[in-house]
Amino acid sequence: MDKEGKRYMVTAALPYANGPKHIGHLAGAYIPADVYVRYLRLNNRDVLFVSGSDEHGTAIPNQALKENTTPQAIIDKYDALLRDCFEKLGMSFDIYHRTSEKIHHETSQEFFLTLYNKGLLTEETSEQYYDDEAKVFLADRYIVGTCPKCSFAKAYGDQCENCGSSLSPRELINPRSTLSGKPPVLKLTKHWYLPLQNYEDWLKQWILESHKNDWRPNVYGQCKSWIDAGLQPRAMTRDLDWGIKVPLPNAEGKVLYVWFDAPVGYISATRAFFKEIEKGSFKYAKQNRPFQHVNNETWRKYWQRKDTKLVHFIGKDNIVFHCIIFPIMLHATGEYIVPDQVPANEFMNLEGDKMSTSRGWSIEMHEYLEDFPTKPDELRYALLTNLPETKDSEFTWKDFQAKNNNELVAIFGNFINRALVLTQKYFDNRVPELGVMNEIDQRVVTELKSFPSRIADAIEGYHFREAAAHLMDLARLGNKYLAETEPWKLAKTDLPRVGTILNLALQVSANLAIVCEPFLPFTSKKLKEMLSFSQAMDWRSTGEINLLKAGHGFAEPRLLFEKIEDLVIENQVYKLNEKKRKMELDAQPVEPSKPEISFDEFSKMDIRVGKILKAERVEKSKKLLKFQVDTGMDTRTVLSGIAEHFTPEEMVGKQVTLLVNLAPRKIMGFESQGMILTAADKDGKLRLLQPSDVVAPGSKIS
Ligand code: MF3
Ligand code: ZN
Repeated sequence: MDKEGKRYMVTAALPYANGPKHIGHLAGAYIPADVYVRYLRLNNRDVLFVSGSDEHGTAIPNQALKENTTPQAIIDKYDALLRDCFEKLGMSFDIYHRTSEKIHHETSQEFFLTLYNKGLLTEETSEQYYDDEAKVFLADRYIVGTCPKCSFAKAYGDQCENCGSSLSPRELINPRSTLSGKPPVLKLTKHWYLPLQNYEDWLKQWILESHKNDWRPNVYGQCKSWIDAGLQPRAMTRDLDWGIKVPLPNAEGKVLYVWFDAPVGYISATRAFFKEIEKGSFKYAKQNRPFQHVNNETWRKYWQRKDTKLVHFIGKDNIVFHCIIFPIMLHATGEYIVPDQVPANEFMNLEGDKMSTSRGWSIEMHEYLEDFPTKPDELRYALLTNLPETKDSEFTWKDFQAKNNNELVAIFGNFINRALVLTQKYFDNRVPELGVMNEIDQRVVTELKSFPSRIADAIEGYHFREAAAHLMDLARLGNKYLAETEPWKLAKTDLPRVGTILNLALQVSANLAIVCEPFLPFTSKKLKEMLSFSQAMDWRSTGEINLLKAGHGFAEPRLLFEKIEDLVIENQVYKLNEKKRKMELDAQPVEPSKPEISFDEFSKMDIRVGKILKAERVEKSKKLLKFQVDTGMDTRTVLSGIAEHFTPEEMVGKQVTLLVNLAPRKIMGFESQGMILTAADKDGKLRLLQPSDVVAPGSKIS
């Protein structure tokens, strides 16, 4: 295919609506996809960008069980959350759809029937694990047992998380159902399979030959090893009560395999998009550009015409589905095109460890947005410059801060600010005349010219990280130009020269406003407003120094970016570690209860609220603090082994809970007259027990 497609169908993986998604997902699929699409739109190319929530599969009922609610409540909750986060991060989907929508159920059932009616699916009956008590067939994840490879006792039916082996449920030793805890029984069940092996020759030709040089090595390599290992029939249906019904008679209780219906979701989203455009009523779609002559066949242009370029943006765990299984489904119908490119990314780690929502080692999109609501572009930039395009990469808060402070603030923001503030100062917010250009000026003009195509080539070659680096280099060029020409020193002696310099600096700024749009859409908008730039944004007009006419006036300059202080970053690192610690603790069992006591025994204890008047360390002891406590009745000395958890300074003035009638004890030479009560977290970390409001010392606790 030519470098330039006639039209583009761009998809970003449908995230499971079973929980929040973290910034690794953003880096994996969404942000690169958004850059690509925004760039194409600026070039006036015919592009459609779809995604949506993946609302089927066992992940959904699984989460419902955990949250003690219904699958429907789960998908409604997380679809809304994901939708909102994507919006706030500037993801410019033409449509963000849902696989629970009727049009999707119909589209995937139709798709299934197309294959079925062509005789391309095989029907097989086999024995599968069944929970006799819960009366359901068990998805692989619902079966645990001992790993045959490493003897780990809690391996899942599809994978052992201890040794990483991929397993099938029948390999597990002593399998148990996670629903009832009972051993499952084998029961016959019928399913429909797609015989992947029949398409091996086609796959070899299509991927191994045609895409040897234009697919990323990691993507190509994974495909090759799957194909080389030999393909097997794969079940396209499941025994489950959550999902899309298999549209055949005698298929009671059977639904489509989630990896069958989800990618078809891209097609349903496209259909839904044109339906909404046609009706002019928008529920999920947004009209990013005009469309003419839309009818209920329009979607086919994007999925069934050879001159459409289909591009799937995904993370590496989705490669087999987007490069092998879904393409076979598409190809087998004889009606659909297959992807031209699948720019899958590797994983992004976080502060030295694998990112994982379930382990609490993650920055979820909504968490970032809660803490940095005005900084979507700052995250986009930090991720873009660190994309795991060829190998795993790592996000650290320090690096995020450095990207913001040293690049966005110190280079991009600084350049724009200087250009605008100087123009305000010397030319009353109007673009000055461009006079005679000297050698330095000429060099800047020449360099400026080369940037848009450098960035464009990187984007069209799916090298987004490189593209973002070029973008910053353009700002760097502007910054260097001002540093070299020092217009602020010339104002007294040669104002026309200052005008020439600022005219060029402003032209570079206007260029930046356009070429930064795919990467930093919010910044682009702000900059455009500051420059009172009213023409339509067009990539093809960049590289020139005629974007702003002399005399053009603009608004008050504002700062584009702001510095992020160390404290903010330290807080985030702290928060991250705390989140993980809490999750680990939640997963640990609680100590069992002590033997029963009578009420009389309990009432012998006299527990009161006390106020700490004085606190000091005890010499030669790491653990002990010595307090003077006001008990309402007296002021007494109490020793407590909490020095590793609290400083004397922070204890002074605090209310504490005190056992006042404990027999005095001598500790390190001091007599302790009471005991301060604390709550110990599962890891031993101590917290004080305090009344929820201030009460008088001596108040009784019962
Ligand atoms: N929900 C899947 C995941 O999060 C991705 C589905 S992509 C699609 O891994 F192609 F199936 F839509
Ligand atoms: Zn194992």
